[in-house]
Amino acid sequence: MPGPPLDRADFPVTGRWAYFNHAGLTPLPAPAVEAMRRAAEATALGGSMAAVALQEEGERVRAGAADLMGVPVDDVAFVKNTTEGLGFVANGLGLGEGDRVVVPDLEFPSTLYPWMALADLGVVVDRVAPQGPGGALPVEAFADVIASGAPPQVVATSWVQFGRGWRTDLAALADVTHDAGALLCADVIQGLGVIPCQLERWGVDFAMADGHKWLLGPEGLGVLYVRGERLDLLRPLEPGWASVAHREEWDNLDLVWHDTARRLEGGTPNTAGTAALGASIDLLTKAGAQEVWAQVDGLCDRAVAGLGAIGATVLSDRSPAGRSGVVTFTVAGADAGDLVATLKSAGFVCSPRGGGVRLSPHAYNTTDEIDALVGAVAHAGAFVGD
Ligand SMILES: Cc1ncc(COP(=O)(O)O)c(C=O)c1O
Repeated sequence: MPGPPLDRADFPVTGRWAYFNHAGLTPLPAPAVEAMRRAAEATALGGSMAAVALQEEGERVRAGAADLMGVPVDDVAFVKNTTEGLGFVANGLGLGEGDRVVVPDLEFPSTLYPWMALADLGVVVDRVAPQGPGGALPVEAFADVIASGAPPQVVATSWVQFGRGWRTDLAALADVTHDAGALLCADVIQGLGVIPCQLERWGVDFAMADGHKWLLGPEGLGVLYVRGERLDLLRPLEPGWASVAHREEWDNLDLVWHDTARRLEGGTPNTAGTAALGASIDLLTKAGAQEVWAQVDGLCDRAVAGLGAIGATVLSDRSPAGRSGVVTFTVAGADAGDLVATLKSAGFVCSPRGGGVRLSPHAYNTTDEIDALVGAVAHAGAFVGD
């Protein structure tokens, strides 16, 4: 039988844990650790003499990230995390009195706060209520809220909801958003790296993700996509030496923006983190986006079937269009936090999120690990109430 699409030998975590928390924080693959070590060593040995090669490596990583997102390389900026990318968009658009933003009512804080924080400027934020136990956000529900008031300037959502994994149809939402004259901002951290992604074709205007979840990268380095024709709508919030067209002409102090998304990167890049993210993206690219998704989707299906068979309740919406790499479940009478702790003591890593236990496997996980987890849940469930 062929092994999983991502080679388990590249993931030291597999020696100790059955790790199902990629919606939280990925364990770094060994090639990423090695790339980070090599970048740090190059700087140790050469200081400024290493910088050019490391910055060239950064451009290679930018191209790899752009391919994964399905966007032109010039539309990608590195950011320190998803939150920074969201802040660049929410604060860079110049929204003010009477402007309106439509968001889901149930979100990760960082996807909401940048918009809510504009209230003191007179920006109104209206919410779309999730539906059913899976927290579904059908595009019609967005359309209803969009139509219920003045035309909004922005619709902002996560691609995949962090708690129970509902996946919003970004292509359909982009159509509805643009028909209303608004821009679509998608936080893609819970989908990028696991679900095949075509942000440009889907019509998304802005998107962002940090590397530390499904991209298998280090913490503190993410990517921001700004559709080329929207770039001039964003006021660069951190202008610096790297923001301009004539980078490194130190005597030229004209403020002429770089004509790509690179203008949003004001200062010195995180070269060691970039090298590590590049190695992680290389693993995903080599495995193949479709193969990665097929493996994770299959593992989630298997978990859903196994958990159902032992009487657990799966909360996640597993409809073909709404599913993702996240499966959240409950066991009657069991507290999710307690269950996560019990599973951890048996060697399984997952999180208490979305009102249950959240599983988020990646493409190096196996069906054997899922079956063992289901066995451990059954065992833990049997002791509930004892
Ligand atoms: C949907 C979503 N957005 C943003 C974040 C946080 O991103 P960052 O820490 O990269 O800013 C998370 C983390 O769990 C998330 O699930």
